[in-house]
Amino acid sequence: MDRRNFVRFVLAGSSVAVLAPRLAVAGIPEQGMAGRVYYTADNPGRWSAKVKTHVPLIQIQKSEGTATVEIITPHEMKGYEHYIVKHVLFDKKFEFLGEKIFDPTKDASPVSSFPLDRYTGTLYALSVCNLHDSWLNSAEV
Ligand SMILES: [Fe+2]
Repeated sequence: MDRRNFVRFVLAGSSVAVLAPRLAVAGIPEQGMAGRVYYTADNPGRWSAKVKTHVPLIQIQKSEGTATVEIITPHEMKGYEHYIVKHVLFDKKFEFLGEKIFDPTKDASPVSSFPLDRYTGTLYALSVCNLHDSWLNSAEV
């Protein structure tokens, strides 16, 4: 390796070392969704004023050993102008469990419900706004 390539190699390694800690966001699991293209209540990025209306609320209802999860985004459904596009539910390994796609001409509020049977552990709910990106929250079952 000549000196020029050695310098490039060292600079490239330094860049990775500097950037890598910025990719790890506190509270977000290491495994997961490609690109981590979502916001959270603790990490709202450019949408800090949108937390209350975009972070999905997760309610677990248990009955006789089975559970149901309800996801609610306290967000308006203003036709196609501004609405929640969908909810997506993931298990503790970010494996897809289900999704609900909303029709803003028919769905008055962005609420979805999924059966969990006997699932235990962390659940992740993603809520997608057509203007303000995707928001993630989690709950324990
Ligand atoms: Fe929005």
